[in-house]
Amino acid sequence: MIDLRSDTVTKPTPAMRRAMFEAEVGDDVYREDPTVNRLEERAAEIAGKAAALFVPTGTMGNTIGIKLLTEHGQEVVCDSRAHILDYELSMVAWFSGCVVRAIPTVRGLLSADEVIRNIRPLSPNSAATGAVAVEQTHNMGGGTVYPVRTLCEIYDAAHQRGVRDHMDGARIFGCSGHSRA
Ligand SMILES: Cc1ncc(COP(=O)(O)O)c(C=O)c1O
Repeated sequence: MIDLRSDTVTKPTPAMRRAMFEAEVGDDVYREDPTVNRLEERAAEIAGKAAALFVPTGTMGNTIGIKLLTEHGQEVVCDSRAHILDYELSMVAWFSGCVVRAIPTVRGLLSADEVIRNIRPLSPNSAATGAVAVEQTHNMGGGTVYPVRTLCEIYDAAHQRGVRDHMDGARIFGCSGHSRA
C-alpha cells in the first residue's frame, strides 16, 4: 500500500538520508553543483524535455510553470480542489496575473470534455484561456491518479485550441506505473 495523499506523508529512508549527506555540492548558480546538474539532466531525460530546472518546493515549480505558460490577463483551467487554487497563496494571480477557472470534479480528475467546455471562446469580452493545469497525484482527491489516456486526451484538446498544459506532478514518481490504463 503506497499512501499518495501528499509528499508530506512519505519519509526518507536511511539510504535516502545517506545519499543526501554524501552528495557532492557546489554553487548551482555557476552550474558547479554536480549533484544538481546530474539531477536536472536525469529529469530532462525522463520527461523527454530539452532541459529541467531544480526547484526546492512544489509551489515554486507550479508558480514558475504557470508564469512561463501564460500571459497576464489569461485564464488557467483546473479542477476546483487544485493545490494551485486552494493552497498556494494565489500565486497564479499574484505572479502570473491570471484568473483560475475552476471545474468541479469527482476526486480532482478532469476530462477532456470538461476542459473543452471551459476553454473560453475568443471574444472582445472574455479573457483567453492560457493553460490547463492537472495534478498528479491529486492531493485533495485522496491521491487519485490520472490515467495516461485521459491526460493525452486533455493535452490534445488543449493544444488543438492553442492552450498550453501544466502538470503539478507532486507525486508523479510515486504513481509511475499506476497510471497506464
Ligand atoms: C499536489 C501538490 N502540489 C504542490 C504541493 C506543494 O509542495 P511544496 O509544499 O513543496 O510547495 C503539494 C504539497 O503537498 C501538493 O500535494
